[in-house]
Amino acid sequence: MPSSVMPTPRSSDGRPSPAAVSAAGLRKSYGDKTVLDGIDLHIPAGSVFALLGPNGAGKTTAVKILSTLVSADGGQAQVAGHDIATSPHGVRAAIGVTGQFSAVDGLITGEENMLLMADLHHLSRAEGRRVTAELLERFDLTDAAKKPASTYSGGMKRRLDIAMTLVGDPRIIFLDEPTTGLDPRSRHNMWGIIRELVTGGVTVFLTTQYLEEADELADRIAVLHDGRIAAEGSAEELKRIVPGGHVRLRFSDPAAYRSAATALREAAGDDEALTLQIPSGGSQRELRTVLDRLDSAGIEADELTVHTPDLDDVFFALTGGTDQPKETVR
Ligand SMILES: Nc1ncnc2c1ncn2[C@@H]1O[C@H](COP(=O)(O)OP(=O)(O)OP(=O)(O)O)[C@@H](O)[C@H]1O
Ligand SMILES: [Mg+2]
Repeated sequence: MPSSVMPTPRSSDGRPSPAAVSAAGLRKSYGDKTVLDGIDLHIPAGSVFALLGPNGAGKTTAVKILSTLVSADGGQAQVAGHDIATSPHGVRAAIGVTGQFSAVDGLITGEENMLLMADLHHLSRAEGRRVTAELLERFDLTDAAKKPASTYSGGMKRRLDIAMTLVGDPRIIFLDEPTTGLDPRSRHNMWGIIRELVTGGVTVFLTTQYLEEADELADRIAVLHDGRIAAEGSAEELKRIVPGGHVRLRFSDPAAYRSAATALREAAGDDEALTLQIPSGGSQRELRTVLDRLDSAGIEADELTVHTPDLDDVFFALTGGTDQPKETVR
């Protein structure tokens, strides 16, 4: 289990922390298209929540509603204790939002972008300069501070985006696909930044297309599908939703396929594809049993793949895709 997965945060008296974000029955349509069809959320303060969903599922819409950028058609939500409908200013004062698309102005320098944010937050000049210098340092942008942001790499722009979000010292931040388009190293760096924020007590609401990212970072994950939350839980809980692992054998010779199907009675067969699927946890001992039984029947499969359930399976099972083997052993 990733080290970032923590139990529900509790206050000093041992009671569960209050919710940073809670929502009941949130609905939103554009024209006759229902985007959100009744969303319930409960995100404890100090935790990381990941909203997963394919393109167009409504992730950005959910972020926009909770950050009061667009209004919901129905339902209600509290963010940092403020109602999004009746106290949008209270919500906005408590949150930071890093949108899916960069808010960085490329024509001015990174430092100027930061100072502009400080102005928007009504910080004094001195305070604005202090916060800007501190955040640029923290996000490893000090050397690039005086260069136009248009010259920054994608990863640098994304870091600047998040640094800008942190100027007002928000306790809850919304990160809409914080690592889309980043290379693996930049993605890992971004994960480190997000973990640091959480260590500092910030609540993070992130959206992502990357199951691995949700697995790495989130205490709780919700999968958005057809306007509803199709499943919610920790990564481990979600993985338990899908059927267990299996070994898949593929044959090119129909006779070998039939013999194997006879030798391995518990296997589910696909007569067209000439593949057999045997339920298996993927351990060495279980694999050896399968191989021994094939050997003693004198059968050789063309390909053997071991499949252990992961978040991809959950995602595809819930959003209607196909499952693909992850590892191949020959
Ligand atoms: N302002 C708008 N007017 C009309 N339709 C919209 C508007 N904003 C979003 N939609 C539609 O709502 C649906 C959900 O969009 P949204 O941007 O929330 O999805 P998403 O999950 O963030 O997708 P992606 O992974 O591509 O960012 C889409 O079908 C989109 O076309
Ligand atoms: Mg989006």
